[in-house]
Amino acid sequence: MRKYLLIAFLLIFLNSFSQNDTYSELYRPRFHFSPPANWINDPNGLVYYKGQYHMFYQHNPFGNVWGHMTWGHAVSNDLAHWKHLPIAIPEENGIMIFSGTCVADINNTSGLGKNGQVPLIAIYTGHISGPVQSQAQYLAYSLDDGITWTKYAGNPILDLKKKDFRDPKVFWYEPRKYWVMCLMLPEEHIVQFYSSKNLVDWKHLSNFGPAGDTSGVWECPDLTPVPIDGKGGKKKWLLQMSMNASMQYFVGEFNGVSFTSENKSSAIARPDYGPDYYAAIAWGQLPNQHQPAAIGWINNWYYANDIPTTPWKGAMSLPRTLSVKKKADEWVLQQQPYLSGGLERKMIYKDFKIGFSEVMRLPVTTQQCEIDVSLTPVENGQTGIRIAAGNGKHLEIGYDDKNQVLYLDRSKTANQAFNKEFEKRSRFEIPYQPKGRLRLRIFFDHSIAEVFVNDGERVFTAQLFPDETDNGIELFNTGGPGSVGYCFVYDIKTIW
Ligand code: FRU
Repeated sequence: MRKYLLIAFLLIFLNSFSQNDTYSELYRPRFHFSPPANWINDPNGLVYYKGQYHMFYQHNPFGNVWGHMTWGHAVSNDLAHWKHLPIAIPEENGIMIFSGTCVADINNTSGLGKNGQVPLIAIYTGHISGPVQSQAQYLAYSLDDGITWTKYAGNPILDLKKKDFRDPKVFWYEPRKYWVMCLMLPEEHIVQFYSSKNLVDWKHLSNFGPAGDTSGVWECPDLTPVPIDGKGGKKKWLLQMSMNASMQYFVGEFNGVSFTSENKSSAIARPDYGPDYYAAIAWGQLPNQHQPAAIGWINNWYYANDIPTTPWKGAMSLPRTLSVKKKADEWVLQQQPYLSGGLERKMIYKDFKIGFSEVMRLPVTTQQCEIDVSLTPVENGQTGIRIAAGNGKHLEIGYDDKNQVLYLDRSKTANQAFNKEFEKRSRFEIPYQPKGRLRLRIFFDHSIAEVFVNDGERVFTAQLFPDETDNGIELFNTGGPGSVGYCFVYDIKTIW
């Protein structure tokens, strides 16, 4: 008996030890979503239902690399704190559960609801690998608000007998009183649109593409209405998509049948100009007054399986609000971190009108913060900020006035040798002409940096794997003089 008691105590002790350890491991993000253990990639099935934000995600429950694709599940009340729920839809009979959508079928259009219980309907790609790969669209439903799921007996519900055909995004289109699905023909660079009255039988409506960036296979389309900044009530349709390993967007109109892009420029517009933002999609069925919000996977297929994090691999971005504005006759996407009542922040440093020396180190050290800084770019020189600074190492974000580019450079960060592709992808720059000051809001979370430029009209997201002592912050310029309008640093509390 005593022996068993001892073992029981030992198990309880070890368990509490491991729980305390979770979310404080080296590189572990503290205010971004990541799973307790194992691999994740794309966010899936984002739906707001009964006051909760549901997030499903691509998950390997058995290991820390891609495989056995299954839908993991978490919920949040504020888009900042997350509660992990049991696996939602597991791989079964050789069919992996690839990316897709979840909708609350409030009017029971599918007929799958019972006794007044609203069915949650997941529509995802069933992936069969092997000598003959196939992808088709499948349906599963839940009658207990998303906890347990039943695969539909009539699966697949949409099958073109193709090797690649995936990532359905479904939403209700009120003017025509039907559901719309958009999904990818990845190799062809085509987004297809379908309609359905019951979520089961789908009719082809139209195609969009090829367009813009066709350098990689197209994945994860997301079509969502977003407000025009400052024009109360007016909306445009935003089409975002991923192409190994970057994203692009189009802005225009959707009439219930087809999508038309209104941007004439051949320049490729991206929701994120860093290396680590992928497969982002927006929440469905948000309350009317709620700003549209999207979330993306922070990683990059070129090196995703090798990043040096354990026992988990992969994280999600901060949820981002979406709106568009017209600039030089083109629609530009604006994104802001969704912070409403969510993340707990505390000011730890504030300074105004700092004259520039060459490199000025702030009197704070942290790897878990928001830095909000407003800079006046130096004429013909470079102006910016370095985070994760220590012993010659840092991540640099800045503006190069001579070349008129905004950039993020991680070439001097620690621990890059885990993968050649990571080492190669070290500097990201885009042409940019700031009018006057440049405001950078940088969310630095141990191994993640998300940078929102000015009013969120450009964003850079990058992973870095700094040593724990790389925690300094420096403002710098070359040439000069430049000036800093203000610099605030906020400590951000862990969400776990
Ligand atoms: C995008 C993606 C999707 C697919 C899923 C598989 O990252 O390749 O196209 O459904 O990941 O995990």
